Amino acid sequence: RLFSAIVPAAGIGSRMGQSIPKQYLSLGDQCILAHTLDALLAHPAITQIVVALNPQDADFATLPQSHDPRVVTTTGGAERADSVLAGLQLVSQDWVLVHDAARPCLTRHDLDKLMTHAQQNEQGAILATPVRDTMKRANEQQQILHTEERQHLWHALTPQLFPRQALLQALQEAQGPITDEASAMEQTGYPVKLIQGCASNIKVTQAEDLALAEFYLRQQHR
Ligand code: CTP
Ligand code: MG
Repeated sequence: RLFSAIVPAAGIGSRMGQSIPKQYLSLGDQCILAHTLDALLAHPAITQIVVALNPQDADFATLPQSHDPRVVTTTGGAERADSVLAGLQLVSQDWVLVHDAARPCLTRHDLDKLMTHAQQNEQGAILATPVRDTMKRANEQQQILHTEERQHLWHALTPQLFPRQALLQALQEAQGPITDEASAMEQTGYPVKLIQGCASNIKVTQAEDLALAEFYLRQQHR
């Protein structure tokens, strides 16, 4: 089976606190987004990558990956879900992976694990990792209400893999805050499978994540 990918890359990285959007910060020999695209471009079953860019983006065209014939761009929207919806308009395959621009440490092994599940079960799925710490639910005053059952709690990662048409409909009809594709799919009653991936597939969010991502990348390329 062949796949399209959407890479939402239209954010400004406000929590990073740098003058340029975090996806363009350097990580070793190239920027975060370039590493992210390389991880997807290396997979022979991914025939197309739609990158959703900020209307103000001036950096993407300088990346060597922007010239790859499989890479196309579109203009993203105000929220991540809007950027993904924009990308969906250009998607050519029936199954689509959505992967954050800010997750440069995705491994081939995890990508294959996710794709294999979708292929064998004809079911959408997302990469995820079990939470490690004891989890507390709190009220507005930061008083603990109770302890959550950790065995049922997962961190949602990307890629998230769904049939294009079902995802399009789910995102168009979604209510409330939608911070990943699965949250829109869940609302429709679609059964979403969690596929356990590596905890190293971090979303670079704050300054201290840069050194960590660089470390994970260096380990992969050893
Ligand atoms: N994203 C997007 N369109 C938006 C907002 C976010 O394409 N309107 C992308 C980001 O570029 C990022 C991914 O969605 O690759 C995950 O979002 P997040 O980590 O929140 O990135 P930012 O929104 O850029 O960062 P921040 O929330 O700190 O501003
Ligand atoms: Mg954001």
